[in-house]
Amino acid sequence: MMTDALVVKNLSKMYGDHRAVDDVSFSVAEGEIFGLIGPNGAGKTTTLRMISTLLTMTSGDITVYGKDMRTESDGIRKMISYLPEDAGAYKDLTGYAYLTFMAGFFANGAEMEGIVARGVEIANLGTRIDSKVSTYSKGMMRRLLIARAIMPGPKLAILDEITSGLDVINAFDIRDIVRSIAKSGVSVLLSSHNMFEVDQLCDRIGMIDGGRMILTGTPAELKERYNVGTIEEVFIKAAVKR
Ligand SMILES: Nc1ncnc2c1ncn2[C@@H]1O[C@H](COP(=O)(O)OP(=O)(O)O)[C@@H](O)[C@H]1O
Ligand SMILES: [Mg+2]
Repeated sequence: MMTDALVVKNLSKMYGDHRAVDDVSFSVAEGEIFGLIGPNGAGKTTTLRMISTLLTMTSGDITVYGKDMRTESDGIRKMISYLPEDAGAYKDLTGYAYLTFMAGFFANGAEMEGIVARGVEIANLGTRIDSKVSTYSKGMMRRLLIARAIMPGPKLAILDEITSGLDVINAFDIRDIVRSIAKSGVSVLLSSHNMFEVDQLCDRIGMIDGGRMILTGTPAELKERYNVGTIEEVFIKAAVKR
């Protein structure tokens, strides 16, 4: 039997009397790339932040590799890595110095050097890893941040809108990095409002709208179910139907 990296059951989040996440359930299998897709304000970031231990849930259950969020959030924190959508890096540092600084939170000595080496490899910035972050393009910055998130070796990587604001080529590169991360055995939960992207990248997707999960399945299953050619059309049909 496959281990579940993540199980989310009946998850809800109230902000005052606004229900931002409404009874959401889904699971992510080990080694899988699962994409949460939905329009702005759908509740993607709120969901990811609760799974990342940064935001308390109003109700529901979250289990990461068998650990319960209510009682074992410290254990969960050690297994996950979260990259916020608005993440930045210290601009005065070089890429290398930034990775070294961040690796220092996890280890020291040879172990830390190993983590940094992995980060340098994932970022794949060539000699520019020694340039100041302030000189990086948006695409280079995003690669550095993904490297930072993955280098400590999380079991579950949670990536919020990793390609938003990037041009086609940079977005393509980033998707390639995510694929290789998953191939190396890391489970990935990501969010995107780009329907094309989740179709290309994800093993399974969950469509979220107005805080509710309206559909989950593989891209192929969903397109077949609605007899359409694109995930965008699936979303339109499913959103209108409900
Ligand atoms: N800190 C907050 N306080 C109040 N409302 C919030 C807060 N964060 C998000 N929301 C609301 O919750 C809903 C879901 O937001 P969010 O999870 O950021 O959506 P997404 O990431 O899918 O764009 C939106 O209506 C948003 O305005
Ligand atoms: Mg968001």
